[in-house]
Amino acid sequence: MGTISKKFVVVTVLMISAIFLSTGLYAGTKVKDIIPMNNKAYKKHKKPVVIFTHKKHAEDYKISCGDCHHDDKGKALKLKMGDNVQNCIECHKNTGKLPKKIKKLKGKKKKAAKIKEMHKEAMHANCINCHKAFNKKTKSKKAPKSCKKCHLK
Ligand code: HEC
Ligand code: HEC
Ligand code: HEC
Ligand code: HEC
Repeated sequence: MGTISKKFVVVTVLMISAIFLSTGLYAGTKVKDIIPMNNKAYKKHKKPVVIFTHKKHAEDYKISCGDCHHDDKGKALKLKMGDNVQNCIECHKNTGKLPKKIKKLKGKKKKAAKIKEMHKEAMHANCINCHKAFNKKTKSKKAPKSCKKCHLK
């Protein structure tokens, strides 16, 4: 082996181990920076699917993970990127009040409509309440409150 190819081998090995090290640090649940909220648990959406800027919320807007993620008692979780997290829908498909419209449905239709309704309620409560409070506190309109500004066409 010539000197050049030896150097090449060493550099390649170093690069590969660097990749393993950095991915090792972030093992766990991967979360997309931007999440289209078309949750697998229900298929039909009446409104355009919301595009949620997960990374911006956590980093640029400096909102702590526990403001959105909590345990099975609703208690804020202390998390860091890479930690495993349950999807909101795992719990929020089965709590809260059902509108009469949905109560009247039967079978599969009712099940799907119920999951969607419960999820929607939890999302709206989380997203919109914070946005309202933020705008009030900062006397601004930066955080969207209207349907159209979240459910973008
Ligand atoms: C402003 C609210 C908010 C903040 C802040 C936030 N998250 Fe999330 N996160 C969400 C929502 C909503 C989802 C679920 C999106 C969906 O339905 O797929 C999610 C999804 C995730 C997922 C993927 C779960 C899955 O089922 O695939 C992980 C992992 C995660 N968040 C970790 C974190 C960590 C770690 C932090 C803090 C550094 C954080 N999140 C901050 C709202 C937030
Ligand atoms: C492990 C189960 C679990 C997961 C996962 C979960 N929640 Fe909850 N959540 C709860 C429970 C239980 C309560 C009720 C606490 C109470 O009654 O005080 C709650 C309460 C709430 C509330 C306030 C009550 C309401 O509906 O108005 C909001 C908003 C909310 N969750 C949003 C979210 C969001 C957004 C996510 C995902 C980022 C999420 N939850 C993930 C279990 C969960
Ligand atoms: C705890 C507070 C908080 C929660 C919870 C929260 N947001 Fe926000 N959001 C903000 C703030 C603050 C801004 C504006 C920051 C700025 O522009 O300076 C914002 C901005 C936005 C924007 C416009 C800018 C962008 O990044 O796209 C959208 C859309 C948005 N939020 C969607 C959501 C959705 C969807 C959820 C629920 C899954 C959510 N937010 C939950 C605080 C919050
Ligand atoms: C701060 C952001 C935000 C605002 C403002 C908002 N929503 Fe949503 N909404 C969401 C998120 C996130 C979901 C979860 C799934 C999705 O994207 O469809 C949702 C879900 C829904 C759903 C169930 C899914 C579907 O499309 O059938 C309906 C219906 C809905 N919203 C209607 C409305 C209406 C009507 C308004 C205005 C009065 C509104 N939303 C305002 C964030 C928002």
